[in-house]
This record gives sequence, structure tokens and C-alpha cells, in this order.
Amino acid sequence: MSSETAPASLSAGAPAPSPVAERLPVFPWDRLEPYKATAAAHPDGIVDLSVGTPVDPVPALVRQALVDAADSPGYPTVWGTPAYREGIVGWCERRLGARGLTDRNVLPVVGSKELVAWLPTQLGLGPGDRVAHPRLAYPTYEVGARLSGAEPVVHDDRPDDLDPRGMRLLWLNSPSNPTGKVLSAAELRAAVEWARAHEVLLVSDECYLELGWEAEPVSVLHPDVCGGTYEGIVAVHSLSKRSNMAGYRAAFLAGDADVLGELLTIRKHGGMMTPAPVQAAAAAALEDDAHVAEQRGRYAARRTALREALTAAGFRIEHSEASLYLWATRDEPCWDTVGALAERGVLVAPGDFYGAAGERFVRVALTATDARVRAAVARLGG
Ligand SMILES: Cc1ncc(COP(=O)(O)O)c(C=O)c1O
Repeated sequence: MSSETAPASLSAGAPAPSPVAERLPVFPWDRLEPYKATAAAHPDGIVDLSVGTPVDPVPALVRQALVDAADSPGYPTVWGTPAYREGIVGWCERRLGARGLTDRNVLPVVGSKELVAWLPTQLGLGPGDRVAHPRLAYPTYEVGARLSGAEPVVHDDRPDDLDPRGMRLLWLNSPSNPTGKVLSAAELRAAVEWARAHEVLLVSDECYLELGWEAEPVSVLHPDVCGGTYEGIVAVHSLSKRSNMAGYRAAFLAGDADVLGELLTIRKHGGMMTPAPVQAAAAAALEDDAHVAEQRGRYAARRTALREALTAAGFRIEHSEASLYLWATRDEPCWDTVGALAERGVLVAPGDFYGAAGERFVRVALTATDARVRAAVARLGG
């Protein structure tokens, strides 16, 4: 008997694994690996502008808060410490213009990716339900719908074109990943009105809100958008981009108290606790705007340099008025662009990762050090 033959107890009568993975799309980043190898063969090394992962230091005050809370032997709570909840409420009022929030309107979550992926399941969605997300979008909205067994459908930021039947969840994402597009207050208000009229929960992923360049992003929690009540709407925010805390896994929800109360109950049973030192670090980060301004300055300089270099190299930039990305095209298939730039040692993300509508675009992230951005600029000009 070969050592690879399954023991009898596993081969006979064992239940087949549930085919959850079969519901999911191919993990797209695996397809980029050969191009990554090409770019890495450049004599001066790869400039990786494919993933939007922060590279600058975690602010000193955040690290200090983490260290100060390092002696945390007990379990943290899912709802978070009063200090963290107050920090979230304060930030939403100061930065988003939200009014009248209490701590029943906020809920810490362990990273917004995890939330996006599991929200439909936690809300009890399943076969027969539909989840709408932007046509060009962060892939995890579709993944989350599929994990729950619900059907993902796309919208063009005008949900009134959607058939509301079976629709349970409407995702908005402004500023958008991958395009950097910003929805106006009027567009957001129209989406809120549609969602309320059809009793569809509207969840607005606003994780790039502090990264507006040529537009001032507006939250769904702003009174001009929601009319001063949070019924049927939830905003998603993350500390990852704003405060270079992607490695900490800290995000939060704000909005409808009934929806968040229900989620709190479910998440308590599921044990989805933000670690206590991370809660302390996130609370410190939310109190401080100076480090955000400093980080914005870094990204603004990189954005200007990359934008000029791409334009000079024959690219057209669309949208990109906010977020951490330039949405660029040379009016050719995206994989041709990815291949040509990889030959120059620059790795970017193909637009079709974010939907078929992106097949002639690439997404260029601003998340590389100043030195690597200078190298990219030189290579684009070469
Ligand atoms: C639109 C969008 N939402 C959510 C996330 C996840 O961020 P995090 O899980 O770090 O909070 C990302 C990350 O790139 C994103 O682009």
C-alpha cells in the first residue's frame, strides 16, 4: 500500500467536504506570478505597484499605544472598550460630519476585508438572495456574496437601474478601488433613497475617504446624504490606509443601531474580537489627524510623479480623483500593458481583476517608497 493511500476510515463512508471553495472565483493574484518573476529579474529589482499595501512607518503614537496596552491578559470585548467606541464616534462626527451618533451606532471589526467577506453570511443571506456591488470593484464583495450562497449582481453606481426583487444588500464604494472615482452627495443620496424605498441594507465601504485629491469624498453618514438618520445604512471604515495599520487589522462600522446590534450579537457568539492592544492603538490613531496629513503628503508627491510619468509614457488616466491608485490605460488589453511594464521591472495590477469592464486598464498603486517610485518614473521614461 502506498503511503499516499487514504486510511480506510477516510476513504470509506467519510462525508465529502462541502464544496465552498468551488463557489469562489480563481484567486486572481496567482495569475500575476509569472509577471512578477519577470519584473523581479530587472537588474535593479522589482518596483511593485500592484498591491495597495502601506509601506511607510506605523505612526509613533500608534505603536506607543499598542505597547502601553501590551499587558492585556483578559479577553477583549467584541463591542470594544468605551475609549475605542468614543474614539470612533468622535472621528465620525469630526471627519464625516455625522451627527447624534451614540455607541450603539458603532461596531469595531477585525479588518474590513474580513467584514466584507463575511457580512452576507453573518446577516443570514443565502440562496435566493442577491447582493449588488459596483461593476468595477474590490473582488471581496463578490466573494462575500458567494460564500453565503447569495447571488452577486453588479450596478453602475445608480441602483435605481437594479431589479430590487431578492436584493438584500447594496454595496457602495466611494472613493472606489480600483478606479478612484468619488460619488457626489447627490449620487449617494439617490442610492440611500432607493435602498430605503426597497428595504435593502446599504453598506458603504469608505476606507479611502481620507485620501481625496481632486475631489472631497462624502460619507453616507453625512446629513446631506442620509438626512440625519441612519436607518438602513452602514458605513465601513478602516485604519489600514489612513494610519498605515494594515498589519494591525482594525476597522469599524458606523450607522444603523438595529443592524449593528444584530451583528454584535452574532459576532459575540462567533468570537470576532479585535485584540485589546489593537483597540488601544486604533483609538489613539483616530484621535490624531497630524499623521494622516503627513501620510497624505507622501502619497500626493508619489501620485504626481507617477501620474506625470505615465502620461508622458502614453497612458491616459481616468477617474483617480481619490484613493491610493491611478487607473490607467494605453487602450490595449490590460495583460499586454502588465507584460510590457513587467519587462521594465514595474509590476501593476491588470484591470480585469476588478471586473471585465477593466480589461483595458491597469491599476497603479501609490504604495511604494519614494525611492521605488523614483525608480518606476525613470523606467517609465526609458
Ligand atoms: C475597497 C476596499 N475595501 C476594503 C479593503 C480591506 O481593507 P482592510 O481589510 O485592510 O481594512 C480594501 C483593501 O485594499 C479595499 O480596497
